[in-house]
Amino acid sequence: MAVTEAPFHAALTALREDREETPTNMREAFKADPQRFAKFSLTDGDLLFDWSKCAVTTTTMHLLEKLALVAKLPERREAMFSGQKINITEDRAVLHTALRAGPDAKVMVDGKDVMPEVRAVLAAMGAFSDAIRSGTATGATGKRITDVVNIGIGGSDLGPVMATLALAPYHDGPRSHFVSNIDGAHIHDTLKDLSPETTLFIVASKTFTTVETMTNAETARKWVEQALGREAVGKHFAAVSTALDKVAAFGIAPDRVFGFWDWVGGRYSLWSAIGLPIMIAVGPQHFAEFLAGAHEMDQHFASAPLLKNIPVVMGLVGYYHRVVCGYPARAVIPYDQRLARLPAYLQQLDMESNGKQVTLGGQKAATPTGPLVWGEPGTNGQHAFFQLLHQGTDIIPVEFLAAAEGHEPELKHHHDLLLANCLAQSEALMKGRTLEEARRQMLTKGMPLEEVDRIAPHRVFPGNRPSITILYRLLDPRTLGRVIALYEHRVFVEGTLYNINSFDQWGVELGKELATALLPVVEGTEDAARSDASTAGLVRHIHQLRGE
Ligand code: F6P
Repeated sequence: MAVTEAPFHAALTALREDREETPTNMREAFKADPQRFAKFSLTDGDLLFDWSKCAVTTTTMHLLEKLALVAKLPERREAMFSGQKINITEDRAVLHTALRAGPDAKVMVDGKDVMPEVRAVLAAMGAFSDAIRSGTATGATGKRITDVVNIGIGGSDLGPVMATLALAPYHDGPRSHFVSNIDGAHIHDTLKDLSPETTLFIVASKTFTTVETMTNAETARKWVEQALGREAVGKHFAAVSTALDKVAAFGIAPDRVFGFWDWVGGRYSLWSAIGLPIMIAVGPQHFAEFLAGAHEMDQHFASAPLLKNIPVVMGLVGYYHRVVCGYPARAVIPYDQRLARLPAYLQQLDMESNGKQVTLGGQKAATPTGPLVWGEPGTNGQHAFFQLLHQGTDIIPVEFLAAAEGHEPELKHHHDLLLANCLAQSEALMKGRTLEEARRQMLTKGMPLEEVDRIAPHRVFPGNRPSITILYRLLDPRTLGRVIALYEHRVFVEGTLYNINSFDQWGVELGKELATALLPVVEGTEDAARSDASTAGLVRHIHQLRGE
């Protein structure tokens, strides 16, 4: 039975519409139930997950739990952890959890334990990182490597970019740079201040065919060759890929190639050798803590009862907002400047996973699926788009993330202000401000009555806008691992409820195919006649602008 056909689904919708049952005024809900925060928050170690500002009741949560059971969430979770091929359109297991499994773990794929290989690659990454960090592995002229440039895109870029910035306080290795875009400006601007003698490139691509990555890698290879000669290339390149034959053809020596496996999805790959730039930046020990944090969250996800399970509850609430409430988007707002790339990372994780329109059985999905995910760090977002979150006509649930402590004890005052703002925003979204309160505030300030009448409606905040808050002590490697694994599992839970395959990404293919076909047209070696009139007109205009 599909989740949407389950009787609980109708009950959930009815419950939401039942004004007696479901709080429409969250201020009143908190007043009426002093236990509301305790009922709708969970902890795992020092990590607190609070969804009490969402308009749910105990009954809502129990109905959602029943939906999860109808969707066979526990069975699907077990299928994922045990290496079953749940990515049915690519006939692949989904085992990013194996990459951070404990030292005694055994994980079978096609009758073979994959853990010895996982550990061997991790050890090789550690040895290589140590050699680069200590200076025992140098560039071709004997100089120490001072800059590491990761060339990759999508999952081969966003995770390392996000995590390297997040872990800046632990960064004691060479400087890190990331080139992803096919736009020549990206590699040009990155290389302009670097020296070929002291730069190491990591070419990161699961398939080793992605046009952006291969084009940038070739440009980088030429840059090294021109400065230091062809024989220098080996000392300045390493690669991360599942396609070892293609890496060899590019000319990177086998001892500098770090493999991974088809059961690691690109957007789930930062725990694999794709994390090499993170490891070189922060060191193997911190990388191990990052993996250990993710493993802790895996264990929690695998074993905690459904309504005590943070990723499960986060997924259930996400599903409720998307399907039952019909909210089209969610905003992720880390009150942490070093999580500035978290929203971009989560966009790929969530939208490439759950932006699907057919079910596992190939039928058109009966409910909306993954929401639009976006965000920026607070407090910056407050001075940009929070206006819409507070007073716009769409309701967009917000996810706040914050650490109780910063890494700069001497700037504690900054951190206190940061936290006060984070808490204030979720409170403001929830409480809002009534017309009466707006009027009273203006009258107290001595504003003339006529002015009060005119301005007051503009100063009303509807309130009752849902948000969740994720709090932890410090954004250290272990905590970052826990938070990222939490989001991965939440995406899994929602995908299970939508009954879709969260692990393929056919939706990126069509554009890639058309770009390949259009290249000769843009270059002017083929006629645009086969394109539609708009595309042909745009190409003509490009040629005119270039005088071609
Ligand atoms: O275009 C989408 C995608 O396939 C992502 O899923 C992937 O993370 C990215 O491209 C990069 O792919 P690769 O690591 O094979 O270069």
